[in-house]
Amino acid sequence: MNSVPPLKPDRAVEIAPGVHWIGVLDPGLRSFDIILKSPNGTSYNAYAVRGSAGVAVIDTVKACFAEDFFRHLESVARYDEITCIVLNHLEPDHSGALPELLRRAPQANLYISTRGKPMLKGLMHGANLDFTPVKTGDFIRLGDRTLSFLNTPYLHWPDTQCTFLEDAGLLFSGDIFGCHFCDARLFNDAVGDFRYAFDYYYAHLMRPFRSHVLEALQLIEALPVKLIAPAHGPVLRDNPRHYLQRYRELSAPTLKNEASHVKTLLVFYLSAYGNTKNMAEVLAAGAETTGGVRVSLYDIEVSDVAPLIDLIEEADALIFGSPTINGDAVKPVWDLLSSLTAVSVQGKLGGAFGSYGWSGEAVPMIEDRLRGLKLRVPFKGVRARLIPTPDELAECRKLGVDLALHLTGKTENRMIDMAALA
Ligand code: FEO
Repeated sequence: MNSVPPLKPDRAVEIAPGVHWIGVLDPGLRSFDIILKSPNGTSYNAYAVRGSAGVAVIDTVKACFAEDFFRHLESVARYDEITCIVLNHLEPDHSGALPELLRRAPQANLYISTRGKPMLKGLMHGANLDFTPVKTGDFIRLGDRTLSFLNTPYLHWPDTQCTFLEDAGLLFSGDIFGCHFCDARLFNDAVGDFRYAFDYYYAHLMRPFRSHVLEALQLIEALPVKLIAPAHGPVLRDNPRHYLQRYRELSAPTLKNEASHVKTLLVFYLSAYGNTKNMAEVLAAGAETTGGVRVSLYDIEVSDVAPLIDLIEEADALIFGSPTINGDAVKPVWDLLSSLTAVSVQGKLGGAFGSYGWSGEAVPMIEDRLRGLKLRVPFKGVRARLIPTPDELAECRKLGVDLALHLTGKTENRMIDMAALA
């Protein structure tokens, strides 16, 4: 996609007065965290900030690139000048060179977010490590310069934070506003077209945490940001506020909901012989009777997953019908469920039903998965051996009614999570 072959820079690059990029490029990377494709490779951006009373290092790099990182750092500072090390995020692509940096600059204080503590323990087994946990409003001084901290959790790990260099209006944003796009020209107004990489990265890392993105934007938009220095991809010096606006746009609902005044219940099913389909239709009809709920049925044997993800993100309740084949729910159900990690489903209502031949594991397996995704599963799923009996269809209908009443707040029943009774 990028027509210019990435060059391997062999030097630190000044991005603002007294602030150097000391990261590394990884043009050969083709997948990140296993799940993200990276056709342009990536960069692990780290920075050195010089003040009148010391140097701060912001983030490090993946361990296998430590040698280049230290060479870049040594070109702009001595180790005994380093007073502060800030890790905006402890994932190993940014903390890989930390142990060696601490060994070379033992006098430096380490600053991480308050949620970073268990991760730091996991990275530095057995080390007796001093560090200072920080939160929004905390700051450190480098003599004439001040670095202040912003607590921006779950973007995309619990520990993520940003650090703001006040005099330069420079936001060290960690993974936020980053992308996997390797280009030695470094700055957003000089590199190739990285718009797709920026949106793709958002979709896979930030979209599941949309509410946290909006909280972070509230903090960041209040700052006089003149330059954004993320932990991956181009340094955003040209029109940095465009990227705040882009995050706002990407965090808006994907679909326009013309029925926003009612709750939405999505029923997904597959059916080998029409039995699970019959259950789905009866359940949906039951939900319809309560009023105030828009019920939609989808046969996922013939659906693409991507458009359903957008629907699911906006829905209030999801229920899955699957036959049991070879002791399991069928593959399209798992494909759809595994895709739900890309969106926020926490707190939605969930449920399951299905016809089976002799064992019927699909329903409890789906319920377990829904709970694992942090949906609430308040009502026991319905299973029917082969052709559902009138009683089993009545149970399906009741499940639809119960879910709909719960969604609309019309039920007087106390909700009990079935997992709590197990
Ligand atoms: Fe770039 Fe979440 O690590």
